[in-house]
Amino acid sequence: MADTKKTGGLAGVTAGQTALCTVGKEGAGLTYCGYDIDDLADNATFMEVAYLLLRGDLPTQGELDAYIAKIKANRGLPDALKTVLEMIPGDAHPMDVLRTGVSFLGNLETERDFSGQEDVADRLFACLPSMMVYWHRFHADGERIDTETDDDSISGHILHMLHGKEPSRLHQQSLDTTLILYAEHEFNASTFAGRVITGTLSDMHSAVTGAIGALRGPLHGGANEAAMELIQKFDSAEAATKGVHEMLANKDLIMGFGHRVYTTSDPRNAINKRMSKRLAGEAGDTVLFPVSEAIEKVMWDEKKLFANADFYAATVYHFMGVPTYLFTPIFVCSRITGWAAHIMEQRANNKLIRPAADYIGPDLKPWVPIAERG
Ligand code: COA
Repeated sequence: MADTKKTGGLAGVTAGQTALCTVGKEGAGLTYCGYDIDDLADNATFMEVAYLLLRGDLPTQGELDAYIAKIKANRGLPDALKTVLEMIPGDAHPMDVLRTGVSFLGNLETERDFSGQEDVADRLFACLPSMMVYWHRFHADGERIDTETDDDSISGHILHMLHGKEPSRLHQQSLDTTLILYAEHEFNASTFAGRVITGTLSDMHSAVTGAIGALRGPLHGGANEAAMELIQKFDSAEAATKGVHEMLANKDLIMGFGHRVYTTSDPRNAINKRMSKRLAGEAGDTVLFPVSEAIEKVMWDEKKLFANADFYAATVYHFMGVPTYLFTPIFVCSRITGWAAHIMEQRANNKLIRPAADYIGPDLKPWVPIAERG
């Protein structure tokens, strides 16, 4: 029998190969297709990173221009999908909206074979932000927005649709950087779920629908919303210090801390923290950023647990006016690139993913007729 104490949740188990990403690899850290995450965050746009993941190499200027034009041309939503989005209640969670939206699109634009898989990936990448904000604005403001904006970046496109005006350069670039940081992370739970579905030779909409379901949970992508709710509970750094000590004494999980693979830090955290501090300054915030730092200090002092990518991403989004319930859906708008890249990688060398389990149930028993059961 395998030692499931060590491998519970498949911790430390190598479940396949990928050329897309390293996570916490000695001497490499976090890389996408061979590029260091710090280099990408400092120098690339999210559209370049999306191209890198989906096409395997950085684009030339000509390739990037053509790619941006293609994505912009794919932002429109079919009328039937708009109707479905309008019918989903306004108090639904937008992760459920995206899950339904992708699944429904799979009925309208069914992937019948894999010959057009790059187009399916690009279409999903282009129209997920449209689904998210169309549903939000319809229910929050009673408006049927035009999802075909002229913004070259996905970040500008999202903020433009959300606020009805072009965003500031600082907001657009900050959102773009968080999208770069969220784009890919090797065999995380949602990507692995997508690869398991893909391994049966199913279609891309099914794999992405399953991946959205996995990302939704608070132990995975849902942590950024849960972190925001935690930060907003406190009105000062002192209150946060006291409150988090109490939560730890109570054995509560503190969302936005800890990681399955990283042991001492998450390389994405420093970048998000820098942006959060800058945006806090711009917004004149004197509470949320100090509260966040206080929580981070208690977690390190008491548990040697570090903030992961979700913790400071929460206030980055908050300071640019994004409603909390859209934080994880925005993660989807980025991670779709990693998911689609993994789906195509899985297909290129497919093997059904079907592990074994150690049986811990009862020994074989004789059948008992219903009248004799008691
Ligand atoms: N708050 C409080 N304690 C935490 C913690 C957190 N965020 N993360 C881990 N721990 C504790 C666990 O309670 C456990 O303590 P124990 O050994 O006394 O039982 C220990 O640290 C090991 O954690 P475990 O849950 O076994 O690690 P894991 O690898 O299975 O889990 C996470 C990784 C990410 C699921 C976990 O750290 C977590 O739940 N974090 C909060 C959710 C989150 O931020 N998710 C986003 C991940 S990017």
